[in-house]
Amino acid sequence: MDIRLHPSILSADFVNMEAELQLISAADAVHVDVMDNHFVPSLTFGPQMVKRIVEVSPIPLDVHLMIVDADRFAPGYAELGAQSVTFHVEAAANVGKTISAIQSHGSHAGIALKPGTPLEPYLDFFHQADMVLIMTVEPGSGGQAFLHDTMPKVEALRAYLDDHGLTPLVEVDGGITTQTLPIAWSHGANTFVAGSSVFGHGTPAHNIEDLRQSLPPPERNRA
Ligand code: DX5
Ligand code: ZN
Repeated sequence: MDIRLHPSILSADFVNMEAELQLISAADAVHVDVMDNHFVPSLTFGPQMVKRIVEVSPIPLDVHLMIVDADRFAPGYAELGAQSVTFHVEAAANVGKTISAIQSHGSHAGIALKPGTPLEPYLDFFHQADMVLIMTVEPGSGGQAFLHDTMPKVEALRAYLDDHGLTPLVEVDGGITTQTLPIAWSHGANTFVAGSSVFGHGTPAHNIEDLRQSLPPPERNRA
């Protein structure tokens, strides 16, 4: 499997979203950060905006919910047609039930862990989820520095998945650049969210290609 690149539109121009989406059409999916002023201090957008992004995006949506009461709200985002809906385990009362509810609406279900959240209580859910998102910054804003001390957790997750023959995507989110992508890949990640390193300078399409090229071709194909 190829590595997957998911640009985050948190760093895009919110009032020109349709044009911004066209600039990242060479990516594998668009990462859509939903923030609610409660789980994280920031506020972005909700279901109406996500519905419009589904309608105009040239690529599928990877929705990252940073919201409280995920059990209640996550399935609604799947109903809107997102390819995947990821919620935080810290914000869900019944993780297994919410994974199933997302999947029953035809979306892939992801579970996200903040940097300080350990893997161990959630091992059972790795058998059920389609993606596991290990945050490599504290959720809440773009442009933060990659937390290298999250790498042992990515490595432990990769070891657990391989030992059990499980194949959910292993996504990392936060501080991903041409320098840190190969580091996260070497610890077992195969899906990379990048906001400021795609939209923050130069041309998004070139930046996406530079991120892909940050791994030599054989590695790129051994996700
Ligand atoms: C942070 C968000 C990220 C953010 C990443 O809470 O979940 O998706 O956009 O931004 P960068 O790539 O700039 O760290
Ligand atoms: Zn995110």
